[in-house]
Amino acid sequence: MITRNDLCWCGSGKKWKKCHYPQMPSQSQNALARQYHKQYGILLKSPEQIEKIRIACQVTAKILDALCRHAKAGITTLELDELSRKLHQEYHAIPAPLGYGEPPFPKTICTSLNEVICHGIPDERPLQDGDILNIDVSSIVDGFFGDCSRMVAIGKISPDKQKVIDVSLECLTRAIAICRPGAFIWQIGQTIEDYATEHGCSVVNQFVGHGVGIAFHEPPEVPHHYNQLGIEMAPGMTFTIEPMINAGVREGWIDETDHWTVRTKDGQPSAQWEHTLCITEKGCDILTVLK
Ligand code: MF3
Ligand code: CO
Repeated sequence: MITRNDLCWCGSGKKWKKCHYPQMPSQSQNALARQYHKQYGILLKSPEQIEKIRIACQVTAKILDALCRHAKAGITTLELDELSRKLHQEYHAIPAPLGYGEPPFPKTICTSLNEVICHGIPDERPLQDGDILNIDVSSIVDGFFGDCSRMVAIGKISPDKQKVIDVSLECLTRAIAICRPGAFIWQIGQTIEDYATEHGCSVVNQFVGHGVGIAFHEPPEVPHHYNQLGIEMAPGMTFTIEPMINAGVREGWIDETDHWTVRTKDGQPSAQWEHTLCITEKGCDILTVLK
């Protein structure tokens, strides 16, 4: 996570706190926003901020959609990264993963194939019939962040691959359905792990969803597995849900060479879908659904 004294994501060379660091909740914001910031570090967004995040999320979703339509047998994930660079330029957007973390993530998107759980790096391997691919796009537009991912099946895929794709999408759909003011963050993990285990799949617990919008990764963490996080959802919370569901064991290994690619310990397939949400007065808005 970016902290106040890190360099700003915008490339200005200034510290984040001197550059694009968000305005702290002030007297003009309500007591709940001040309490959430103080108690959890969570920034409840203002209507103006939500509109900016919505725009960023729509750009992110459009880029993701174009990349998914381009993903076919014979295309390399490096070509998808090149298309992503071009589309980010066209939309005046910055790809958030590029240069992110330590070691700096080297590409503009994550492409996670088959047994790769997440954080796969685009490379020269052409997509093949039978592959399943997660494409994860995170974009910065006018200083605000969107984050979403989807699965693509290349040609004819095996029943076990189809199953993790279907189970992970249903986990995301069911988790979104419980999101509204007063629901607890732990209910997301409960909903997802109940459904996944009932269908013979496991839920990755090494990586979680996250607050997003003003920074790439903000509080709170949003676990997809059973947990006890007693934070109540409140209007203006913006966060991702991005369940990683495995056909076999839940554990993953981080690649020792690139320090990013995470593969299942047993080599069985894994699938993930992701949306950015905003809690509203009555329920939630899926900001990364294409409008
Ligand atoms: N949706 C992923 C996440 O929130 C995107 C990771 S990009 C990376 O973690 F640069 F961190 F790999
Ligand atoms: Co994310």
